[in-house]
Amino acid sequence: MSEPIVSQGGLLGRFGVVVHGGAGNVKPERRAKHAEGCLRAARAGLEVLRQGGSALDAVERAARALEDDTLFNAGTGACLDEEGRVAHDASIMEGKGLAAGAVCDLRGFANPISIARAALDDGRHVLYASEGAARFARARGFVPVGDEALVTEAAREALATARQGAMPMGWAGNTIGAVALDGHGLLAAATSTGGVVNKRVGRVGDSPIIGAGTYADDEAGAVSTTGHGEGMIRLCIARTAAEHMRGGLAAEEAVRRSIEHLRGRIGSTGGAIAIDPRGHYGLSRSTASMSWAATWAEGEASGF
Ligand code: GLY
Repeated sequence: MSEPIVSQGGLLGRFGVVVHGGAGNVKPERRAKHAEGCLRAARAGLEVLRQGGSALDAVERAARALEDDTLFNAGTGACLDEEGRVAHDASIMEGKGLAAGAVCDLRGFANPISIARAALDDGRHVLYASEGAARFARARGFVPVGDEALVTEAAREALATARQGAMPMGWAGNTIGAVALDGHGLLAAATSTGGVVNKRVGRVGDSPIIGAGTYADDEAGAVSTTGHGEGMIRLCIARTAAEHMRGGLAAEEAVRRSIEHLRGRIGSTGGAIAIDPRGHYGLSRSTASMSWAATWAEGEASGF
């Protein structure tokens, strides 16, 4: 039986940050902890905005906080591939000039979102893969930490469960992401993940794919998706949700329709968060859980 589609939204006002900790099936007793982790990350992103930083700075900061939190499937503690190794995917985009940066199948670095940000700032190419991504990272001064520093016991257990043919439940959601609107009306989005447990070597998901995992356009909206990456890629869900907002839908309705479409058209599952240019935020999931948090000048909210 499929899970109901759950959606929610609100008004951030002039600026704010929304994050997710991944759509999935986290054990009920762990969900509050995941929401707390999301809140810490969204607060860190909001602090950047309060200090005058841009939406792009805020989503990078929030995503880094989630990458550093071993509760989540990104950065340190990300899931393991079929060889028991970490291979990260991440992307980041800003909505003014539509600049974007991304890395995929990247091994050995703690904060892939900042390497994606370096690719955006560099501007020559959008997406770097595998050894080329690692070479780019080293050239930009990022120091490799190796798998020893990235692999957690929870990730090892999840791989062992998956190798026995069972879906690991109760550990992490499937990705992390952040969207932000700053006081100048600029939008940005970021997404980062270890992908799916026991994935084939070389598999790349939606998170580093602009239009599938991440999208930001000041004239439309900012979106980060999570869930079954192959489905997200096939339907370009981040761009689809952004186009709904360009057409006038508020963020909540835009992500709800996109997640409904994902299920209705190809039977795939996941979730998304979004902010529209008028300062509404929205989230939607078709999975059992998706931790999230929103922070703005006058308030904050979180859930799972
Ligand atoms: N949504 C993350 C992945 O499938 O890799």
